[in-house]
Amino acid sequence: MIEAVKVSKEYRMGAVTLQVLKDVSLVIKPGDFVAITGPSGAGKSTLLHLLAGLDTPTKGDVRWEGASVSRLSDAKRARFRNRKVGIVFQFYHLMPELSAVENVMLPGLIGGQARRQVKERAAACLSQVGLKARQRHRPRELSGGEQQRVAIARALVNEPAVLFADEPTGNLDSKTGEGIIELLTALPTRHGTGLVLVTHDERLAGKAKYVITLQDGRKVSG
Ligand SMILES: Nc1ncnc2c1ncn2[C@@H]1O[C@H](COP(=O)(O)OP(=O)(O)OP(=O)(O)O)[C@@H](O)[C@H]1O
Ligand SMILES: [Mg+2]
Repeated sequence: MIEAVKVSKEYRMGAVTLQVLKDVSLVIKPGDFVAITGPSGAGKSTLLHLLAGLDTPTKGDVRWEGASVSRLSDAKRARFRNRKVGIVFQFYHLMPELSAVENVMLPGLIGGQARRQVKERAAACLSQVGLKARQRHRPRELSGGEQQRVAIARALVNEPAVLFADEPTGNLDSKTGEGIIELLTALPTRHGTGLVLVTHDERLAGKAKYVITLQDGRKVSG
């Protein structure tokens, strides 16, 4: 279970303090499918990163199974993320020097699994997102939508308890998007994977158990 308790995030920009999130509280139970929506700049990516333990709040607390994420050391947080969480970034963050399959393998190798096993699993994940024939391509040899799908495969390779994804269908045509929506929305029922998605895609948000709407850093519904 992941919980945000009155979470605020501020960025100091010289003399000005930017209030990016204000007092946001929410609970994500195991296997929940939650969609986060709201206008550009509302704080969606910031909230997703806090829930995923990539960053810590200025005020309030993010708790995983009751334990405060802010109090974990960076190393412990990284280990927890590697084991429990899959993250698809809004701008993918693939490693440019690595091929598609090597990118997908990375979280498995970091987690200390055997190379051969990780490679098999990575290949299976790439097939799942329709990229079986693109395994050896580097990110710059892939289209935006293909890079997005590599990022999804990488997020799934360690069979996370929760998948966080920032606009996972943002760069996909409607047919490819349909396939990815099917793959993602099947995760909670098929594997009990929690799903937390930032999305403007109504087909996707419509399938969520609940939708959280942010506006100017505040939760206005959900
Ligand atoms: N590291 C940072 N330093 C300063 N300001 C930041 C930082 N990261 C984000 N912001 C600001 O916080 C606000 C929220 O950003 P965020 O990326 O969470 O928005 P978003 O809802 O994901 O928008 P989009 O739909 O465009 O992706 C923005 O106004 C942004 O400029
Ligand atoms: Mg964003």
